[in-house]
Amino acid sequence: MIVVTGATGNVGRTLVRQLSATGHAVTAVARRVQDSDVPAGVRAAAADLAEPAGLEPALQGAKALFLLVAGDDPAGVLARAKAAGVTRVVLVSSQGVGTRPGGAYAHAAGFEQAVAASGLEYTILRSGGLDSNAFAWVEPIRAQRVAPAPFAEVGLPFVDPDDVAAVAAAALTEDGHDGATYVLTGPAPTSPRERAAAIAEAIKAPVRFVEMTREEAQAQMAQFMPPEVVEGTLAILGEPTEEERAVSPDVERVLGRPAAPFSAWAVRNAAAFG
Ligand SMILES: NC(=O)c1ccc[n+]([C@@H]2O[C@H](COP(=O)([O-])OP(=O)(O)OC[C@H]3O[C@@H](n4cnc5c(N)ncnc54)[C@H](OP(=O)(O)O)[C@@H]3O)[C@@H](O)[C@H]2O)c1
Repeated sequence: MIVVTGATGNVGRTLVRQLSATGHAVTAVARRVQDSDVPAGVRAAAADLAEPAGLEPALQGAKALFLLVAGDDPAGVLARAKAAGVTRVVLVSSQGVGTRPGGAYAHAAGFEQAVAASGLEYTILRSGGLDSNAFAWVEPIRAQRVAPAPFAEVGLPFVDPDDVAAVAAAALTEDGHDGATYVLTGPAPTSPRERAAAIAEAIKAPVRFVEMTREEAQAQMAQFMPPEVVEGTLAILGEPTEEERAVSPDVERVLGRPAAPFSAWAVRNAAAFG
């Protein structure tokens, strides 16, 4: 049995579906998950990664664990996983742990260190920005056909959350990934203006890109992110390093096919914006 935490998120939802469709027994964990949120045959177990003891029922009978960065006691979670019989863990972390050590990424770095020290087989997935961050445009596109964002022309190779899920599924179920750290990106950089245009194309309706100032973006993000995460995110979006702008070969190496372009994500999710 494989335990997937973050099971109702952009990555986790697809991962649960992929694992279940390929015949694996899956337990889907999130704080608010219910049976109606998961495919037939998948066990839903509500639990909070911030309270590792509460994960024990979900971990019973598990052999592998998909872990996300949440809570602040990864060693406590991993010790309980090991005690329950888990032998393999796959962590979804952030590219920023490698490119911008410390600051906003110190928390995720702590999870990486705990996973590497756990004694379990482990794989770390350092994800770049997810295509699904464009869901922030659902309301403005639906209401006014506008897509506001800062740094209009700065290109980054955002990655499809389904590709992150597919790499996670491979690392959870195949041998050969123990000790690996993969950097996951899409196949080409796209700028915010280009992503808005891809959504317009997908919904077959005009979408006007509106460039926000850094200050406007900062104020908006501060409503739902801690200050250091706002600064870390704005730094990557506005002044990416060469490494952050580069396309990583890891999705294609693991999956044996190229990473999906943003335009494919937009087409698949057009109904949300339509
Ligand atoms: N967005 C990006 O650009 C980006 C870039 C790099 C890395 N990442 C990483 O990728 C991960 C997955 O992204 P995503 O878009 O799939 O996330 P998401 O859509 O925001 O979903 C988060 C999932 O985790 C669950 N969750 C949150 N806190 C939890 C907790 N304390 N205990 C148990 N479950 C919890 C949520 O459900 P409940 O709320 O019901 O608990 C939900 O199922 C993120 O955690 C992030 O660290 C994201």
